[in-house]
Amino acid sequence: MIVLGIESSCDECSAALVQDGRQILSNVIATQIPFHAPWGGVVPEIASRKHAEWISSVVNEAFQRASLPLEAADGVAVTSQPGLMGSLLVGLSFAKAFAWARRVPFTACDHMLAHLYASRLDMPGIQTPPPYPFLALLVSGGHTLICRVEDFRTMTVLGTTVDDAAGEAFDKVSKHYGWGYPGGKHIDEYARTGNAAAFAFPVPKLHHGSPYDVSYSGLKTAAIHQCEFFRKQAETTAADLAASFQKAAIDVLIRALLNAVQDTGITTIVTGGGVAANSYLRSCLAAQQNVSCIFPAPELCGDNAAMVAGLGFEYLSRGIYTPFSVTANPRRAFRLS
Ligand code: KG4
Ligand code: ZN
Repeated sequence: MIVLGIESSCDECSAALVQDGRQILSNVIATQIPFHAPWGGVVPEIASRKHAEWISSVVNEAFQRASLPLEAADGVAVTSQPGLMGSLLVGLSFAKAFAWARRVPFTACDHMLAHLYASRLDMPGIQTPPPYPFLALLVSGGHTLICRVEDFRTMTVLGTTVDDAAGEAFDKVSKHYGWGYPGGKHIDEYARTGNAAAFAFPVPKLHHGSPYDVSYSGLKTAAIHQCEFFRKQAETTAADLAASFQKAAIDVLIRALLNAVQDTGITTIVTGGGVAANSYLRSCLAAQQNVSCIFPAPELCGDNAAMVAGLGFEYLSRGIYTPFSVTANPRRAFRLS
């Protein structure tokens, strides 16, 4: 079964064709980053307008790159939540129209479940998908979730952020210092040559709520406004600051995740979302004893339609279709089907 996937929840306009939920035939990702970079963040009005301008040619390109005609799509899967309302509506409306016109089944997908699915797609060097249940670390610009995953569509959120999302903290610190947008990639690069002990930023300890919750607002404020207070050496560079911030931001996630491993006894962790591309996060998790970590290929960590098509296959191949009355939802609301 070949599924056309469409993703337009934020600032990537993407369409992909995926066979049997695993084999990527094409995955076109048209990024809007240059249009949002001057503002240091995604401007929702620009995002939805660009999606409306691009969606048709992005979908056509996905068929061209796969050397397939439109008739080859056996079903359509699209992100309907969570995300920017105007942006979601462009992809969702296009996907409904495509499925209706071609008389193929249609399913709406949750963006975070799709991120989770990225590590199940066939990529060179990627292992066979792990059996359920497992733990998931889903970290993006808008979400920070530690979950127990039962199957392709059932996950229980064990912990989350009580304030900013992990990617948001990277983006805000990077924006403040003028390192570039989106910030995660730039901080990751700067940090490679920096000394992570140059600043001793506090790893927040939460005394209320879940032992798997994290917080970023204190760290963000410390890195932006209280650097002098946490400085441990006389001379420091931007690379030192980036490395120290990155270490504190990732260590807090790893601590919460390891709490979940200890309490649930589940030792397989699947990661997803843009922050899962972070090299320090990947090396720290890979070095953990007695824990098996699965990372999507770096190019599948950010927003892309292949992960949506892959997840869509799980629904469509079981005959689970979404009615055309479904609408977009800026927040996560279960269940879709
Ligand atoms: O999943 P994603 O592409 O979009 C959302 O659904 O939000 O995630 C984007 C986020 C941004 O905040 C970006 O700064 C962050 O992922 N990111 C990274 C890295 N690459 C992207 N954060 C840390 N290290 C990276 N290498
Ligand atoms: Zn995302």
